[in-house]
Amino acid sequence: MLAILGGSGLTQLANLQITRRQVMRTPYGEPSGALTFGTLGGHEVIFLARHGYGHTIPPHLVNYRANLWALKQEGVTRVVSVASVGGIRADLVPGTLVVPDQIIDYTHGRESTFVDGTDTAVIHTDFTHPYSAPLRSRLLSAARLADTNCLDGGVYAAVQGPRLETIAEIDRMERDGADMVGMTGMPEAILARELGLGYATIAAVVNHAAGRGDSRDSVSLEEVGKVAQRVMVQVRTLLECVVQCDGD
Ligand code: HPA
Repeated sequence: MLAILGGSGLTQLANLQITRRQVMRTPYGEPSGALTFGTLGGHEVIFLARHGYGHTIPPHLVNYRANLWALKQEGVTRVVSVASVGGIRADLVPGTLVVPDQIIDYTHGRESTFVDGTDTAVIHTDFTHPYSAPLRSRLLSAARLADTNCLDGGVYAAVQGPRLETIAEIDRMERDGADMVGMTGMPEAILARELGLGYATIAAVVNHAAGRGDSRDSVSLEEVGKVAQRVMVQVRTLLECVVQCDGD
């Protein structure tokens, strides 16, 4: 089964026919909210709002381990994450959708592994390609079917938040090779990998990163909200196509 992890701007899926909600407990604590079971375009999915249904959980306090553990427990094999990002690369302007293919992790102090040294041997996890290739292809095929412009590939820089970045930080990320910046991509991606879940992200660019484009002097949070509302309409349509597309 496929799960959708919604981020900022996507705390609900208007086109989801809800069948039930389930509160979950895990060895890692409680997920961000009850899992929402339903059908999207006739296909079963589970939806979870990463920041809680009232958008009250900041990125550094999301219980990423509980979220992914709960999804796995309910039979999820693939997770499509939706995440808002700031665009660093010049063509990643507000309103753009992109399916990243690489990650740089700048977060700190988050519970970032299930390998916690309690009762299992140390396990190292291959993370050369942090996203699932088949699931990325499926997202991109769905975008073509939905006639939605969605760019293939880019480096996602995961930052701690909840503050936005300084210009010098964005300059450094650009030198590092980052194309976009967001606050939730890690540890979500590695935790999904540790659990053997296919994982890929639809990144929605909601602003120019600090110091870029019209964020040269500041990032307008009012504008971010407006763009997010607009772009999430496209994302909802795209998700409907994703669940209908065959494949991984
Ligand atoms: N920086 C970090 N995270 C973000 C941004 C940003 O500019 N926009 C949306 N999420």
